[in-house]
Amino acid sequence: MTEYRHLIVGSGLIGCFLGSLIGQRAQVGFVGREPWLTRLTQGVTLTDYAGHEQAYQAAENQCSTVIPNLITRTVVWLTVKNTALESTLKALQSKLGEHCVVICCQNGLGAPDMARRYLPAVTLLQAIVGCNVVWDATRCSLHKATQGGMYIEQPHHFEPTLNQALQNIAHPLLTVSLRHDIQAIAWAKLQLNLANSINTIVNQPVKTMLLDKACREVIALLMDELLAVAAARGIRLPRLTRLPARWLPVLLRLPTWLFRRLASAMLHIDDNARSSMWWDIAQGKQTEIDYLNGALNHYAGQVRLSCPLNNKVTALVKALEAAKSDESRGILDGKTLKYRLHLK
Ligand SMILES: NC(=O)c1ccc[n+]([C@@H]2O[C@H](COP(=O)([O-])OP(=O)(O)OC[C@H]3O[C@@H](n4cnc5c(N)ncnc54)[C@H](OP(=O)(O)O)[C@@H]3O)[C@@H](O)[C@H]2O)c1
Repeated sequence: MTEYRHLIVGSGLIGCFLGSLIGQRAQVGFVGREPWLTRLTQGVTLTDYAGHEQAYQAAENQCSTVIPNLITRTVVWLTVKNTALESTLKALQSKLGEHCVVICCQNGLGAPDMARRYLPAVTLLQAIVGCNVVWDATRCSLHKATQGGMYIEQPHHFEPTLNQALQNIAHPLLTVSLRHDIQAIAWAKLQLNLANSINTIVNQPVKTMLLDKACREVIALLMDELLAVAAARGIRLPRLTRLPARWLPVLLRLPTWLFRRLASAMLHIDDNARSSMWWDIAQGKQTEIDYLNGALNHYAGQVRLSCPLNNKVTALVKALEAAKSDESRGILDGKTLKYRLHLK
């Protein structure tokens, strides 16, 4: 059997990071926008907090702003944001030929279901990226800023060449595990991502937010809602951090002096780091809120539960999206946030 080629569709932070790792061992093409394609052809360095480094440079003919007309025997890594997924699937629909596998890499809930609607005859897998990747313009580097590897749904039918293709991503910079419980992993990752909305609303660096007990209490309440829905749906959340999923709200509610000691890994972040959702608002872009906090209510309704706090937080983020201008907005502390959310 001939090897699979790889195609990254949506070459931004995650797409360029994954594609540059795949490119160390296999043939890869990139579909994306500027300035990312120029960055790739000029050369990027992949780095992480542990000091690993890997250089990568793509050739001009590997990069394109449009999806190729006929794609065959290719693993297509869909790395656009949820907000661009539907239009990208429509563009991809008529271009997939024989033996293609499409991998949805979006955070949140719902991307694989949407992909299945547009590509019913294609082998679809879900992947969850467990780490954060940021762009460091001074070093032209894609920096893996947190711990966490890549989880890829185990294909239902074992095919050695496909398994090999999926393992092509593995590198000291990113561990890869093929998993049967990818849906549960998506829920566990969403539990961690619920805090992005609070970071966006309070307009503070992630670290400052985490050191404010009232902010942590709000995040813990958001997580309580998710844990209740996951339990009602019979989803056992795998552990993605040092603590099991159900203990995270307990940790967040501790007094700050104790939280500092026990959550040192969580606080091991750049003083000025902000969530990607905060950056979306700062750049006047649509956020992924509907697929994160905003998606929970749909799944809760199916098991006769609701997620009122996640709904309120979703509404606040959507108000920020609608306001467009980021300049005039102030900084909130946790107590004011609680007041705005009608919490004691
Ligand atoms: N960044 C992280 O650390 C991280 C970690 C884990 C998971 N994730 C998830 O991974 C997904 C991707 O996130 P990201 O941070 O990599 O986003 P990103 O940096 O915005 O990358 C997506 C890129 O795809 C481009 N794009 C959109 N539609 C396209 C199309 N039809 N054809 C070609 N390119 C297209 C976008 O361009 P425009 O901006 O012009 O639309 C953007 O450059 C999200 O669901 C995110 O939640 C991200």
